[in-house]
Amino acid sequence: MRTFDEYRRITEAALEPMLDSLGAIPDRLKEAMLYSLTAGGKRIRPSLLLGACESASGSLEEALPFACALEMIHTYSLIHDDLPAMDNDDLRRGKPTSHKVFGENIAILAGDALLNGAAELMTRAAVRRNDMLGVRAMEIIMRRAGVTGMIAGQTMDVLSEGELPREDLVRFIHSHKTADLLEAPVEAGLTLAGAAEEQIAAGREYAFHMGLAFQMTDDLLDVTGDAAVMGKNPGMDGNKMTWVAFRGVEDTKKDAADEVRKACEALRKLPWDLTAFAVFAEQLIHREQ
Ligand code: IPE
Ligand code: IPE
Ligand code: MG
Ligand code: MG
Ligand code: MG
Repeated sequence: MRTFDEYRRITEAALEPMLDSLGAIPDRLKEAMLYSLTAGGKRIRPSLLLGACESASGSLEEALPFACALEMIHTYSLIHDDLPAMDNDDLRRGKPTSHKVFGENIAILAGDALLNGAAELMTRAAVRRNDMLGVRAMEIIMRRAGVTGMIAGQTMDVLSEGELPREDLVRFIHSHKTADLLEAPVEAGLTLAGAAEEQIAAGREYAFHMGLAFQMTDDLLDVTGDAAVMGKNPGMDGNKMTWVAFRGVEDTKKDAADEVRKACEALRKLPWDLTAFAVFAEQLIHREQ
């Protein structure tokens, strides 16, 4: 595999051409889609997909539409997450949130458009491949983003606002709103490469634990982070059922380190050199952004 930094650059270069390939989008809508999509996220999810696929000797070129589609779905989830009716945030990826710039109507539509466009890109890529692997990868991504996945997590996130933290509920929220969209790329990348079922299961185990650690760190950064570095405002989770609300700052750090250990253990079940994935998980809990 290449470095995660390289996968980030490959994704960056592919995103706009992928949107162009969808055809004529109304100017204002396309502007809003690109505004959020090219604002410079960390590109963790597409990088994981490309890295998983290439580790298992799959084709980067064939994986790229799925990687971009997942980044589009993630970006839509952020646009909607920031809306006044959701988390009501005004800073994202270092810029004013979509609804602040384009109004709520276009922000909602830009989110819809990124989700729908992602499905369109994946369907086309699956048809082009003319085998079942593309269809299976798309099913994984849509399910993880869907009503039993990210949307289920987001639902419980908003419904639990103001309630006392409960372990089962915080776990549910973290597993679905966040870990699902990190499991999706590893599972889908390995699937596209034709990896065996037990290899996909080990990849999923890695991503699940890394995903929990990722959201624990996100919850920590809401308390300890700096807006200028993060590109989003800290101190927004006052009413939220976060891991920090449940466990406090110090135990959250310990729990995140524990999840990273479990994630790295799962990697040992795989036959490839996945040091980069282990380093990646380790860096995620020490990130400031
Ligand atoms: C933010 O995800 C939403 C969470 C699941 C915490 P990222 O921290 O990956 O955001 P970007 O893509 O880098 O902006
Ligand atoms: C958002 O979680 C997760 C999704 C968008 C699916 P958060 O609400 O904690 O993410 P941030 O902190 O706004 O990035
Ligand atoms: Mg939220
Ligand atoms: Mg939020
Ligand atoms: Mg957060």
